[in-house]
Parts: sequence; C-alpha cells; structure tokens
Amino acid sequence: MALGLLIGCTGPAEEPADPGLLLGFSQIGSESAWRLGNTRDIENAASEYGINLMLENANQSQENQIAAIRRFIAYKVDVIAFSPIVEDGWDNVLLEAKEAGIPVILVDRDIETEKEGLTTCLIGADFYNEGVMAAEYLIRKADSLGLDNVNIVEISGTENSTPMRQRQAGFADTIAGDERMHILESIDGDFLTSRGAECMRYLLDTYGDDIDVVYSHNDEMTLGALPEIEKTDLIPGKDIIIISIDAGQEAIDVLKEGKINCVVECTPNLGSELMETALKLKNGEEVDAVIHPTEQVFSDEMDVSAIGPRGY
Ligand code: AHR
Repeated sequence: MALGLLIGCTGPAEEPADPGLLLGFSQIGSESAWRLGNTRDIENAASEYGINLMLENANQSQENQIAAIRRFIAYKVDVIAFSPIVEDGWDNVLLEAKEAGIPVILVDRDIETEKEGLTTCLIGADFYNEGVMAAEYLIRKADSLGLDNVNIVEISGTENSTPMRQRQAGFADTIAGDERMHILESIDGDFLTSRGAECMRYLLDTYGDDIDVVYSHNDEMTLGALPEIEKTDLIPGKDIIIISIDAGQEAIDVLKEGKINCVVECTPNLGSELMETALKLKNGEEVDAVIHPTEQVFSDEMDVSAIGPRGY
C-alpha cells in the first residue's frame, strides 16, 4: 500500500487518454507577446487534453487563414477553430465548413456576417469592456489630478478587427458623458511596435504638448510609442498619461517604472476553454455561445510592486 502510494506520487505523469479529436486551429500571426502567449497556451492545452492539434500560423494574412481553413476541411478535422484577423469576409469559407459538417469555434476575435449558424461559439475577451475599463481609469485619473480639459490621442489596433472596433467603442461611449474629454485623433497602429512608434512620431509632430493622454490598444504599440515621447522633453507617465491594453510582462515592468499609468488586462490564456469546448462539440453537446474570461486593471492606483509574473 505504502509502496503503491509512493509510486503514485513520484512516477511519471500519466499520459492523457486519447479522446480521438483532431482540431485545426488557424492563428493570426506572431505580432505581439499576447499572440505568442496565446499560441503557446493553445499548444500546451492540446497536449494536456490529448487532442491532436493542426496549428497554422497565417502571418497576418486573411488569405492565408482562408487557405488554412480549406486545408482543415480537406483533412476532415473534427473541429475547426480560428482567430479572425478582421471581422468581414469569412462567409464563403465558413459555408464550406458548414456543408462539410465541421463545427467552427471563434477564438479571441469575432466575425461580422448576416448568415446564421456559420460558427458555434466565441471564446475570447470582452474587448468592449476593456475599453470601458480604460476610460473609467482615465476619468478617475482626471478627477484626482483636477484636470478640466483632457486631450486624448488613440493608437488603435488592426482596422476592422474586433479588438480595434470594440476597444474604441467602449472607450468612446464611456468618455462621451464627460465634457473634459476630447479625442484629438485616432490612428491605426495595426497592433505593431513599429507602427506604434510611427504613429506617435506623427501625433507628436501634429499636436506636440497639447497631448494629455495616449490610449493605445495594445502593449506593443505602447512600447513603440514611449521612446518617441522620451525623445521630446515630455515625460511619459507624468506629462502624458499612458493607457495600454494586454498587460504582458514587458508593459507591467514599464508600469512599475512609472512610464505607463494603466494597463487593462487581456488574457491570452484561452487554451483550456478551447479544448473543453472542442470536446463538447465532438460529443454533440451544447456549448455556451460566448465565453469571456475575467479580466482586471493594473494601474498607478494600486501597489504595482505586488503584481506577480504575467507569463506572457
Ligand atoms: O486580439 C487580441 C489582440 O491581438 C491583443 O490585444 C493584441 O496584442 C493582439 O495582437
């Protein structure tokens, strides 16, 4: 008995039972620490659940994603999952998946369609609420600093993507009732560090020290924008309020240095929900139409030294 327990405690980890499920997943690309963390989490979850994963990286191209989904259909995978780079333009390929009888899960981002029943569910963040949380932080910050006019520049994510549309709408709707808040310009930074830097250079050239706030839709663009601000005599985090989204490790480190004021969390850890949902679909079970993870805000309103490792 004692030996059995001992063996049970120290022996090799048990292989997960093979549920006989082949999952095709089309990832957008590798544009951010968030995206890399998301890919890693999905790979880890697949091996934890014993699910065979066909993973394709589309290198930021919708065409590549459509081609990947067609390959998954040809391979007769059990379930297709994908993170749509933009919301429009998926009807034809998703009709093909439907005709082949393969259920489709949306991961991270949503699609725009007039057709019924092309996808089964969405597993991803509530991007609208992220925009709301960013704006609520700004309103509290303006109150605490006693500001009576707040000029905001917005560096937004990939045009027509769900996080871009919803982070913009949640933020705009929340500041709409506050007369102090003015968005000077909203500019497309495509979720990339290099574009964040370019956008910030243009915004500084155009508006200079009229800028009170940078609202950036992800950490990469924020991290690209900060050095541009530092090249001027403006100090990020002090002369300009910096608000970011994702809360990856690098941005949290910069929050701790005081150069970012607020980072709204967007968790990339969607792998377990994806595997659970794929198994349910394979077994013909009902799934929730929308699954949002719980997210929080990290900011200079809290003891930032207590924020633990982020893992992405
Ligand atoms: O769709 C989620 C967004 O995509 C993340 O905020 C961003 O970093 C990523 O590239």
